[in-house]
Amino acid sequence: MTIIIDQPELGSQPEKLSSETNELVLDGGFPVPKDGFMAPEINSFGNSFRDYDAKSERQKTVEEFYRINHINQTYDFVKQMREAYGKLDRVEMSIWECCELLNDVIDDSDPDLDEPQIEHLLQTAEAIRKDYPNEDWLHLTGLIHDLGKVLLHPSFGELPQWAVVGDTFPLGCAFDEANVHHKYFKENPDYNNPDYSTKNGIYSEGCGLDNVMISWGHDDYMYLVAKENKTTLPPAALFVIRYHSFYPLHRHGAYKHLMNEEDVENLKWLHIFNKYDLYSKSKVRIDVEKVKPYYLSLIEKYFPAKLRW
Ligand SMILES: [Fe+2]
Ligand SMILES: [Fe+2]
Repeated sequence: MTIIIDQPELGSQPEKLSSETNELVLDGGFPVPKDGFMAPEINSFGNSFRDYDAKSERQKTVEEFYRINHINQTYDFVKQMREAYGKLDRVEMSIWECCELLNDVIDDSDPDLDEPQIEHLLQTAEAIRKDYPNEDWLHLTGLIHDLGKVLLHPSFGELPQWAVVGDTFPLGCAFDEANVHHKYFKENPDYNNPDYSTKNGIYSEGCGLDNVMISWGHDDYMYLVAKENKTTLPPAALFVIRYHSFYPLHRHGAYKHLMNEEDVENLKWLHIFNKYDLYSKSKVRIDVEKVKPYYLSLIEKYFPAKLRW
């Protein structure tokens, strides 16, 4: 079965805000790192990343996605989703089985990615492995970071795009202007809740991101899966999985006042991880069967039992 996704993977591609309009600007234009992993300047179609050649159509699609996302992601919605999906009572399967399930999901309209999702996962993991050969936990993090997208699959309730992908942001405090298409938060019921509309909202400065409710999607779900299944992956891995779409924080530095010292340490790994997540979507084909034994050994090491999802 192939599930066609109507939206691009909105949360993991180069993007920036226009300083004048604070709207999402869809282009590439990211600096190439001095050493280590060389970020390609073009995607597999020969275009710049995030260049939808549609400063019109594609931007409209992305904007409409964020309009719906910003209206519907409320504090109460996230609370309900965490409770419902945190039960992990839907499916039992291994990490590799989940990779294969996600393989049925092809993001048909992501201009940077015309391969099955498993290629993106393995490209990310293999690119990290090349530059950080000793950090095997980060290789596995690359492999599993997007597995939460199974939420789009019928056996997981077939959630709509706005509840699975896209940049994430905190609920329970004011929406920072660094969020793309910030103007649509005005239609979010939380926007006019006085408890949620100050800088700290219901939180206190330095409380730690673990205490902050973040919009629901594949990040938080995969974090719950890994944690509740008692993975032995280090805290930095769980942080990377949980916040890799939290672009307002790791790209724009917003909401830093909510972080504690541990978050500050973990954020360094997220910055490293992010460039591999972004730029591995290129035509470096991976021989899945060849690398599979290595990843199965990592899964065995960090997830010894079958997982509940
Ligand atoms: Fe992702
Ligand atoms: Fe990704």
